[in-house]
Amino acid sequence: MTVSVLFVCLGNICRSPLAEAAFRDEAQRAGLAVTVDSAGTGDWHIGHPPDRRAQAVAQRNGVDISGLRARQVLAADFHAFDHIVALDAQNLRDLTALAPVNATARLSLLLDHVEGRAGEAVADPYYGEDTGFDITWADVVAGAKGLAQRIAAER
Ligand code: 4NP
Repeated sequence: MTVSVLFVCLGNICRSPLAEAAFRDEAQRAGLAVTVDSAGTGDWHIGHPPDRRAQAVAQRNGVDISGLRARQVLAADFHAFDHIVALDAQNLRDLTALAPVNATARLSLLLDHVEGRAGEAVADPYYGEDTGFDITWADVVAGAKGLAQRIAAER
């Protein structure tokens, strides 16, 4: 059985493409068959590649995300994916507001999947220093590991 997971942040050029890449890696390591994508709640960056700082931190960690392109979350995503995982609490509120009444996807916050970090946000690195992206990477890897373990345990 293939499990599908959509990661959602605001712009889909910093945090959620990194979460997508980290989770694809962790799932492969855990032997899970997964379909993974990411999207933004906002529409400003539709069609754009990830932010160059996000591409750089991924590259430093051995992952190429240059081919990803931003898209906005769609109502159909709430049926197409088993899990929709928000990067921060505002993303989760926006997703809850967008969700069709008969949505089947399970909504969660990424760091809810990390022991002791429930309710925490993956901070938006967009307006900060380049070093913020190293923190983002560490956070999304921790979340991706926790989520992969949870999905593996449920099977
Ligand atoms: P992301 O970061 O949500 O992690 O992709 C942002 C990217 C762009 C903007 C905000 C956050 N923006 O305002 O354009």
